[in-house]
Amino acid sequence: MSDSRRWTPQSLQVEIDALKHKPGALLPILHAIQDRFGFIPEAAVAQIAESLGQTRAEVHGVISFYHHFRTTPPGRHVVQICRAEACQSVGARALEAHAKECLGIDYHQTTTDREITLEAVYCLGNCACGPSLRIDDEVRGRVTPDTFNAIIDELRTQTLEVVG
Ligand code: FES
Repeated sequence: MSDSRRWTPQSLQVEIDALKHKPGALLPILHAIQDRFGFIPEAAVAQIAESLGQTRAEVHGVISFYHHFRTTPPGRHVVQICRAEACQSVGARALEAHAKECLGIDYHQTTTDREITLEAVYCLGNCACGPSLRIDDEVRGRVTPDTFNAIIDELRTQTLEVVG
């Protein structure tokens, strides 16, 4: 994990303070923290609760309600498979079954080598080119099991280049 993704109580507070005065600040704060650090650290819950005058249970409730929010660090890459209707009509279910088997994990899990976190997403705005997935910030369309394998190989090769 790069230094910019490491959180401290101070860096969490910076994100909270930037948004806490806005109406309905809780969700934007959670998004900002996850965007910056990759997940919502447990320590953030108390800081957010105190800053917004809410209870920890209320903050926890919102985090657990939205599957988008992670409470553990993601893998090196996040692969999100679209489960919305247009993609399902062109093979997304078969693709997700293949992805889970290929990676040996279910949604919201990370491979044992910490390389890939698998998540579901509901529409990536790429409906005409399904099945669609997003790898980190990049959307890819017409993904088949074979191209999925190639994508995973590509991600692992990138890792080897960095390590080597
Ligand atoms: S339904 Fe999958 S991208 Fe829209």
